[in-house]
Amino acid sequence: MSTETLSLFSVPVFRSKLDKNTSDFFKNELLPCISKELDSANPPEHWATDNLRTDFPGGGKWFDEKRDIIDPVLNSLLVNQFDHKISFEVSGKLWFNWYEEGSYQEIHDHLPDDFDLNHFACIYFLSYDEEVHTPVDFMDPLHQIRRFSYQIPDHKSSVYNWYTPEVSEGTFLMFPSYLYHRVKPQKKSSKKPRVTISFNVNARNLWDPKYELPEWNPPHR
Ligand SMILES: [Fe+2]
Repeated sequence: MSTETLSLFSVPVFRSKLDKNTSDFFKNELLPCISKELDSANPPEHWATDNLRTDFPGGGKWFDEKRDIIDPVLNSLLVNQFDHKISFEVSGKLWFNWYEEGSYQEIHDHLPDDFDLNHFACIYFLSYDEEVHTPVDFMDPLHQIRRFSYQIPDHKSSVYNWYTPEVSEGTFLMFPSYLYHRVKPQKKSSKKPRVTISFNVNARNLWDPKYELPEWNPPHR
């Protein structure tokens, strides 16, 4: 007799990473611009966290100033996510999230309001200290339903409520907008702030040059 466990109906979370030269270049270009906007970067009233700096829902000067760099980097991050070429359209604006000691973000999703559409939520880790910072935790969208069945402890196919991916500076995560996620408090201070760039995208069924972003050409050193 042989037995096997089939783990069905997974949630796709796409993870990629910029090469170090590009992620360093991107950080060195963006971080000084973002840091100039911190004084006015207060979380919206409807967020639970009050100790995070963010320009959500986006539209900061840093974005306009660095658009010529941001667009091609976004292009390189997005076009490689699937095994066939798909057009992506950024939905809304990009925003930054700046965490220092104690900063956190409550559980939330990126579902849009009313009749809008967000296929995927995206997080890019612009400045991140792996020794100190907390990554992001994803919540199993079926965790309540799964409680109606037995989950085998410590079995490789066990489904837990939370999943924490490994991330580092330069990591890019793209995941369905319905997926709940959170950032646990930063327990220690670090020489680096924890800074992420977030945005939402919609996938277009077929490649369409209308949505094409400029190609990324690495800077000469
Ligand atoms: Fe989020």
